[in-house]
Amino acid sequence: MTDIVKRYNIPEQLFWLHGPRSGPPVEYDAATGMWNVYGYPELHEVLSDPATFSSDTMRVVPEALKPKDFSLKGFITQIDPPEHGKLRKLVSSAFTRKVVADLEPRIAALTHELLDAAQDRGRLELVTDLAYPLPVIVIAELLGVPSSDRALFKQWADGLFQRDTKVSLAEPAEDQRVNVETSLKPWREMSDYLAGHAAERRKQPRADLLTKLVEAEVDGERLPDDQVVNFAIILLLAGHITTTMLLGNTVLCLDAYPEQQDKVRADRSSIPDVIEESLRLFTPFAALGRSTTREVELGGVTIPADQMVMTWVGVANRDPRQFPDPDVFNPDRDPNPHLAFGRGIHFCLGAPLARLEGRVALNILLDRLNPLRTDPDDPVEFMPTPTMTGVRRLPLI
Ligand code: HEM
Repeated sequence: MTDIVKRYNIPEQLFWLHGPRSGPPVEYDAATGMWNVYGYPELHEVLSDPATFSSDTMRVVPEALKPKDFSLKGFITQIDPPEHGKLRKLVSSAFTRKVVADLEPRIAALTHELLDAAQDRGRLELVTDLAYPLPVIVIAELLGVPSSDRALFKQWADGLFQRDTKVSLAEPAEDQRVNVETSLKPWREMSDYLAGHAAERRKQPRADLLTKLVEAEVDGERLPDDQVVNFAIILLLAGHITTTMLLGNTVLCLDAYPEQQDKVRADRSSIPDVIEESLRLFTPFAALGRSTTREVELGGVTIPADQMVMTWVGVANRDPRQFPDPDVFNPDRDPNPHLAFGRGIHFCLGAPLARLEGRVALNILLDRLNPLRTDPDDPVEFMPTPTMTGVRRLPLI
């Protein structure tokens, strides 16, 4: 890992990528007021027990740090059973495997279009030219919002995620205090934008996911407006930033391991294994939050009730107790039970779409670019957010 860290100049705030971890699997961090879970079995336990480890993290955030007039109500990733099951069933009925599988030809056509445009410009920077626009166009078309508005989506996503602030429950020092209103501006704008589109669909239904969401029913009940909007926000955000990271990280792995690139070039049936191994080694969502509902023993320590727990999926995915030679990119791992899409009731709803986009785009990249290499004279840049792993600039030769 140290080779990759040095070679691509991975920023220090992605501390968990810097070499193997030898510390305890669970530890309290007095500086942030949170419990960090690093071990694979421990993390598996947390994600599998929503009754003890609630997804509602706002309940343990001190009032002083909570933004005013802002609620995560209806945000599926923050909801516990039994409400979670109902909402999940409802949105799953709109976001089915068939809806995703039918997108394959469109994803392939878009990939070619985007690469043609970059070729005409004579230069390929993977993130700007393909890894960002491809998933955002796909999810915008699926939802039914104009993909031509993607500069707006990018502005909102950057406002939310391109920050290097450490996640903490401690009062920030005066000079590090982020203005809460400024940081929430993107949410509010995105909400208003999607509320407008959802209202239009109620009046005039179309063949899109937003219409399916406003019309979906479970036990005769429809989703209230604010929940439709919050779910659309999750799809719009989760639907593209993560897949952007997946595509960039996978190309980076194949650049770092040219012998693996040769292998997959020769046998395209191993593309899914390459994607899974990239998700393990460079886990896009490196950390997920939970809060304890009771005192619990985990990894040899006792965590009291009502504590914030950060599960470091990126670290657990490199736990040597689960993955031999964890710092090596080895697509032949079988099985490869990484936790990059989470686990249990909140398992990523978009995993089939992310995997499909990854598979189709990588196959086309391998067809069109031989070799697929980063430009040694133009440095790779990583996103600065400590809990996310993804390149934000990847110039190719
Ligand atoms: C949930 C990762 C792509 C939609 C999750 C979770 C993870 C994750 C770790 C679990 C969160 C938790 O337990 O707190 C990823 C990664 C992706 C990806 C690594 C790409 C490489 C997508 C896409 C979509 C999507 C493309 C939609 C278009 C969702 C939704 C949930 C979710 C709706 C919430 C599920 C629930 O709470 O029941 N994702 N995701 N994700 N993801 Fe993804």
